[in-house]
Amino acid sequence: MCGIFAYLNYLLEKDRKHIIETLIAGLARLEYRGYDSAGLAIDGDEAGEVFIYKQVGKVAALKKLVSEQSIDLERPFVSHCGMAHTRWATHGQPSPTNSHPHRSDPKADFSVVHNGIITNYRELKLVLEKKGYIFESETDTEAVAKLAKYLYDEQRGNNNLTFTALVKAVVKELEGAFALIFKSTHFPNEIVATRRGSPLLVGVKTEKKLKVDFVDVEFGTDEKVEAANLLAPPDAQRLRRSQSRTFLSEDGMPQPIEFFLASDPSAIVEHTKRVLYLEDDDIAHISEGELHIHRLRRDDGISAVRSIETLEIEINNIMKGKFDHFMQKEIYEQTDSVVNTMRGRVNFETHKITLGGLKAYLQTIRRCKRIVFCACGTSYHSCLATRAIFEELTEIPVSVELASDFLDRKTPIFRDDVCVFVSQSGETADTILALRYCLERGALCLGITNTVGSTISRETHCGVHINAGPEIGVASTKAYTSQFIALVMMAIQLSEDRTSMTQRRNEIIDQLKKLPDYIDEVLSLDQELKKLANDVLYKEKSLLIMGRGMQNATCLEGALKIKEVSYMHSEGILAGELKHGPLALVDENMPVILIMTKDSLYPKVQSALQQVTARKGQPIIICNEGDDELSKNYKTITIPQTVDCLQGILAIIPLQLLSYHLAVLHGVDVDCPRNLAKSVTVE
Ligand code: AGP
Ligand code: GLU
Repeated sequence: MCGIFAYLNYLLEKDRKHIIETLIAGLARLEYRGYDSAGLAIDGDEAGEVFIYKQVGKVAALKKLVSEQSIDLERPFVSHCGMAHTRWATHGQPSPTNSHPHRSDPKADFSVVHNGIITNYRELKLVLEKKGYIFESETDTEAVAKLAKYLYDEQRGNNNLTFTALVKAVVKELEGAFALIFKSTHFPNEIVATRRGSPLLVGVKTEKKLKVDFVDVEFGTDEKVEAANLLAPPDAQRLRRSQSRTFLSEDGMPQPIEFFLASDPSAIVEHTKRVLYLEDDDIAHISEGELHIHRLRRDDGISAVRSIETLEIEINNIMKGKFDHFMQKEIYEQTDSVVNTMRGRVNFETHKITLGGLKAYLQTIRRCKRIVFCACGTSYHSCLATRAIFEELTEIPVSVELASDFLDRKTPIFRDDVCVFVSQSGETADTILALRYCLERGALCLGITNTVGSTISRETHCGVHINAGPEIGVASTKAYTSQFIALVMMAIQLSEDRTSMTQRRNEIIDQLKKLPDYIDEVLSLDQELKKLANDVLYKEKSLLIMGRGMQNATCLEGALKIKEVSYMHSEGILAGELKHGPLALVDENMPVILIMTKDSLYPKVQSALQQVTARKGQPIIICNEGDDELSKNYKTITIPQTVDCLQGILAIIPLQLLSYHLAVLHGVDVDCPRNLAKSVTVE
């Protein structure tokens, strides 16, 4: 879902070529988020001149457009700020004109890049058009650029007007979700960035080791800020504050510094691991090597300090390595990612599970009346997959909700509910809105995410990080299995006060230990699955995937994978529902995959098999090793048998691999399927 990247160098001479290459490389790191066009803005040759280049299509198309410009690439800049954007259109078709940056006027007094949607842009546009502004694009974003100019011109003559004050005035007029970066010819070499509902973080890079690990937040007016300092000896406090903002070198002088702003850490990590996550309604101002964080109001309960964190991810985490696609890499990474999810949390000797993030809330959760899971897409399927084990181990009623429908129904939520929000990106708009809906109603809210610093991880009361590592492919694979395991671990930990469940817990934990080896065994089926895709399924128009009980989620998730990466229709069907309608689809021509692993429902799935074969269906059966009866009579995909509540982790992998090979055969852009985005940050 689109991306923002900005780069500032201060007291560090860089030529225009380096600046452009840094901006383009930053966008390239964000491509996996899905987009349809791209653009960038840099300083021109004359004072107050801005070069803006925008192109529809891939980042490579923008790069080509810039390379065709007759500009001096060797021109040096001791200080400079440039910004870039990949767009996922919400208002106005993908086109060069609708791409970002958007400008306030032909001279680009103000230019803006934006992630999200300004929901009141029509009203703003109407007012600005009445004031004589002529809009050149169909986007909502352009109204922001023109509003900045309008408010600036209104203040003509006010020499005290700061860039920050101006952006604050702009933000006050905006409704909707946004991450915005402003650049202005009136404030050269300065950038102001703000966010509300879309992620944005700041990376800091200095030649000398950065000693400062925080930035204190400034509020509305100085007296409030001064009041905050009254208790501390002014020099120390001022020094602390100035150091926190200016990253001073030992001799107290401003030092050469670079700032990187981006929608997510994968675009920053190759430059620096020192990052600061902006909170909603933060306004970050960077000028003269200083980073200031402002807020509109002081009394909003948000922390008055932003810590500078150290990124854990490595650059190779976001490279493909020996694989052809990120999706393929991430399917294979599951041997390791499941270990990382359990690392430090499962004691296989004592059969104890410790999810530190939940510790303080365990008793509250155990006493709750209901657990409500809320998610979208694959994350929703991970909740469905673990619902039964949650109910069995905790004996608490569990409901699983699609975030969009949950909000549409205005589902009743009460203070004694526990709501669990599962999201790989931690930025899915529907899930965030559902979270805020539950927070307003006093429920205890937990987050299960894969992205440190994400909105959901920051706005929930507590939660668990699934530690699956960055997931670049739009189609979620390793995040699904890690979410699955994190939820099973959560159910186990919640039931530790029940001695009656000890044997069941120990059995599951023993099988968790074997998962990596089991996964390796399933991955060894890859060539067999590639052949199945090529010889049997490639030309098919549709594929039914059937299962029951804990494998129902596997069917839904497998069907989603096949749909979203191969564009081939596929449907997950609860085997128990066959005779209520879907059986009409079955004949000798309809491809069917049946999940028939050994669990308590095996006999019932057997009857589904008979229903299918009685209509001349020729199902491909995902079954357990050693099920010779099935292997003798049907085309089978055999996987290791494990405990019923973990079997879905193994059963989904053949479907992930199958979807991958079908996608490659269909010539699909596997990591960026059409119309999709890695993180859907708009409703
Ligand atoms: C998964 O393959 C899809 N890309 C999509 O369904 C995704 O799971 C959904 O958009 C939720 O994303 P999240 O986990 O980041 O909230
Ligand atoms: N709503 C803006 C537009 O349509 C921004 C979309 C995005 O997040 O890329 O241009």
